[in-house]
Amino acid sequence: MPMPDKFVFVCINQRDPEHPRPSCINSGSADLFNTLREEQGRRVATGVKIVAGGCLEACMVGPVMVVYPDNVWYGGVIEADVPEIMDHLEGGPPVERLRIGDAEFDLRPEQMSSGGF
Ligand code: FES
Repeated sequence: MPMPDKFVFVCINQRDPEHPRPSCINSGSADLFNTLREEQGRRVATGVKIVAGGCLEACMVGPVMVVYPDNVWYGGVIEADVPEIMDHLEGGPPVERLRIGDAEFDLRPEQMSSGGF
C-alpha cells in the first residue's frame, strides 16, 4: 500500500457534559469518523488516511477535523457532508462552506450564547 497523499484527523475528544467547553464526540464525531471510513472504503480511496484524534482546540464549532497537508480545517461537520469532504480528499477543492479559521479558534463558551458558528 502506498503512502497516503492526505491525512484527515477527526476529533473524537470527550469531556464531561458539564464542562464549559463542548466536545466533538458529544456532537456526533464518532459516527462521523465511521461514516468517513465507510465512504473511503466505498470509493477505494487508498491515498487517504483517516485518523481519530484528540482535541484540535476549535471545540466550540465541533465536530472538527483537519486535512493535511492542505491545512484545511472543517467545523460543524455532519454525516451528510461526508461525500463532499471525500471529493476534496480525492483531489477536489475544499468544501468552503465548512471551513473554519482563526475566528472559530478564538471562540469562547460565553460568546456562543450571543450567536456564532
Ligand atoms: S473537543 Fe473537538 S476540537 Fe476540542
